[in-house]
Amino acid sequence: MTKKPVIGIIPTINLNNDANDPYQDRASFVTMYSEKIKKSGGIPLGILEDASLYTSLCDGYLWPGGNKILKEYIPLIEDAVKNNKPMLGICLGAQTIATLLNVLEDQQENQAKSFKETYDLNKETKPYLKKLEDENIHLHVVTKEKETIDKARHKVNIQKNSLLHEIFGCDDLNVVSLHGMFIARTPKNVLVSAQAEDKVIEAVEYKEKGALLLGVQFHPEIEEENPLFDWLVSSTKKYLTLVNRENSIKYYKNYKIVPYESKYPKCQRDSNLEENTAIAWKKLQSFLKENGYNAEIESAYRPKELQEEIYKQIKSDEGTEYAEAYVAKPGYSEHELGLAIDVCLQKNELWLCGFEEELSPFYAFLEECCSNFGFIIRYPKGKEQITKYNYEPWHIRYVGSVEIAKEIMDKHGTLEEYLCKKY
Ligand code: DAL
Ligand code: ZN
Repeated sequence: MTKKPVIGIIPTINLNNDANDPYQDRASFVTMYSEKIKKSGGIPLGILEDASLYTSLCDGYLWPGGNKILKEYIPLIEDAVKNNKPMLGICLGAQTIATLLNVLEDQQENQAKSFKETYDLNKETKPYLKKLEDENIHLHVVTKEKETIDKARHKVNIQKNSLLHEIFGCDDLNVVSLHGMFIARTPKNVLVSAQAEDKVIEAVEYKEKGALLLGVQFHPEIEEENPLFDWLVSSTKKYLTLVNRENSIKYYKNYKIVPYESKYPKCQRDSNLEENTAIAWKKLQSFLKENGYNAEIESAYRPKELQEEIYKQIKSDEGTEYAEAYVAKPGYSEHELGLAIDVCLQKNELWLCGFEEELSPFYAFLEECCSNFGFIIRYPKGKEQITKYNYEPWHIRYVGSVEIAKEIMDKHGTLEEYLCKKY
């Protein structure tokens, strides 16, 4: 059984907090958030005060609304950045993400010593958060009645080419926001991906170094359905991302791609790889070498434009039918994630690729051993009906876990079958 992604939920401060009451807990967890995580296929996990105890358990985080930034949970943002875990910030959570990243940037510029010193230094002159005017579109009284919720709606405009735009697939939304403060400034590495008509920041994104931090000022948990929770849960399954004829690369553009120099002379623009795929590949390559095979990358990471170029070229050289059987359309190739490698072989100064007969023993060996390094043969023989591509013995796909790769390869399965548990 595959483990469901665990989403750590930061508590919100208890509004009725009375410091003198020994039974009055400081923080509480709101069911609305955990219900949404469950519905999207994740396991919600409430995080108690010693946040660092939970980092090894959590695959992603939800920082919900509230009325006070709980500083003790800031290490979770750092964990999300460092370990490429997705984090969804809602309302105060969005403000917290923006503030933390902003303080970190100021810390570098000012050479100020600590987080607190930097925060205090800028608090008055260049505040991170400001209070909204009393009369505004962002603060309404909302009850469980749909009418009050709908009354609180206002329009936000979504930036094209943003993660938020990909998630919702539209240029504007009617959202419910309930907040008294707003994000007053953002750091350079953060994209403001939505704004209300009055220019209040409604969403921020941090997508550097493979990290996935998305903060929304509005309240998706108040809606029956909202794709943000699906995004949060599915983004944790980073190495099991299903990309095929029906499923585009959609949310998954922020894998960290690292340089790799292939010795194969024709591989110039597409030798780079996702960072952990590169580590696994180098191990597999050494193992192949020990066994007499000088394997190299023929093609790995392809930006969308390159996939498009390749698709057009093959279509013009070999015809549409052939191109359709072997090459994914731009936006629908695993190569665009950096998790796929087409392998070739150097033999007696010659380079062998594709269906050259001499490659048969090598492909058989590759099929036998690749799972020990976390790779699968993505388009196996006999599974064309499922993968919808012809057999490609050279195309290996990193799935992030030796255990999962072995399960798939031992069953002569496909990623599609693994994800649905249908072999
Ligand atoms: N050859 C595979 C299907 C791709 O182009 O991604
Ligand atoms: Zn390929």
